[in-house]
Amino acid sequence: MPATTPPVALDLAAIRTEFPALAQDFVFLDNAGGSQVLTRVADRVRDYLLTSSVQLGASYAHSQAAGAKVLQARQSVARLINAAHDEEVVMGGATTALMFQLIQAILPQVRPGDEVILTNTDHEANIGAWLRLQAAGATVHFWNVNPQTLELDLADLEKLLSPRTIWVAMTHASNVLGTVNPVAEVAQRVHRVGARLCVDAVAYAPHRLVDVQASGADVYVFSFYKVFGPHYAVLWGRRELLLQLASLNHYFIPSDTLPYKLQPGNVNYELSYGCIGISDYLEAVGTALGAQGDARSRMQHAFDAFEHHEDALAEQLLAYLRGKAGVRIIGRTHTGDGLRMPTVSFVVRGAMSEAIVLHTDRFGIGIRFGDFYAKRLIEALGLHTRGGVVRVSIAHYNTPAEIAHLITHLDAAIDAAMDTKPTIA
Ligand SMILES: Cc1ncc(COP(=O)(O)O)c(C=O)c1O
Repeated sequence: MPATTPPVALDLAAIRTEFPALAQDFVFLDNAGGSQVLTRVADRVRDYLLTSSVQLGASYAHSQAAGAKVLQARQSVARLINAAHDEEVVMGGATTALMFQLIQAILPQVRPGDEVILTNTDHEANIGAWLRLQAAGATVHFWNVNPQTLELDLADLEKLLSPRTIWVAMTHASNVLGTVNPVAEVAQRVHRVGARLCVDAVAYAPHRLVDVQASGADVYVFSFYKVFGPHYAVLWGRRELLLQLASLNHYFIPSDTLPYKLQPGNVNYELSYGCIGISDYLEAVGTALGAQGDARSRMQHAFDAFEHHEDALAEQLLAYLRGKAGVRIIGRTHTGDGLRMPTVSFVVRGAMSEAIVLHTDRFGIGIRFGDFYAKRLIEALGLHTRGGVVRVSIAHYNTPAEIAHLITHLDAAIDAAMDTKPTIA
């Protein structure tokens, strides 16, 4: 949902001091690749490493205290995502790794003839792992993006769903198109046929307050290194579902031990503890904006202000791109309706996308070109022939001056690229 009343403006100067990397003379606009890290996160990682590095589960006080910190981290993530139980929070190295873990836990239950629906707009993390279910006899169907509207049409999904469907996997927001998908509406349809829904929220979680219960999903995954934290990730699953999955842990670990049954070798303690810093920050931003109430209401306030600010920055860029001859925006051309993330992709007539980015690289700007591992989408749209798209991905800590700086150099890059490469339509 779009933020209803314009929230109190973010104090950008204060926000930026939370991220020491932003003091450098560089414009970070590849945030969907990886966001900058909060001091609050780094301090906690350091604190854990230097005070709490003992094995967990022993009876001595230090081990008990370290265990309490790791549990506190899980509870903090549970609150951040609105999980009903902290046992539903499975943490691991990356979204891709957690997806492969999930598939390994699902695999023993798959029977020949079971059907799985994947989209061609997803990052490969939420496709490739699912294809492994074919080894157990599952049939895979693709729910393809409408090449004209670039949307996933619910009517197309309806045609693919059947009583044999066991899982549907989709993205909450595309890391290329920036489009927010109607996950809750999909969940209703998926559940109607008795199937389950797995949602990749990597491109969503930096921009909206995650609510796994409201999403309607059965599994919901994202990476903390896109949400101002460390290179680390979370997979949430409904308790009843996780209990049914095969254990990935040792034979002597009871298979109802959540989340440990799905965390072989256990979590990374210091990175888990570091993640508390993300919630601390969001709550502090909400409080500074005048929010009251519980932790999640304060975090919601922070995200409302982020959305408002990010929409303004995205519109600043989109308005320029809309007006620039030769540019085609790959995704929604306007923002402000709550359905678009500030991740903006485009191509330039006659140009390879690389040429644009190699030009802006020279001016202390971090943007990027390519398929962003959404390879199937880029190929379906025929954009692989020009080296994928140019992607600018904005975070709440970016400023209008940074976008203006980008636009200045983008403009020169686009003109130069169109002059030199007239052969690509
Ligand atoms: C939408 C999306 N899903 C999944 C991933 C993979 O995340 P990870 O690097 O944590 O495996 C990415 C990474 O860029 C992504 O953008």
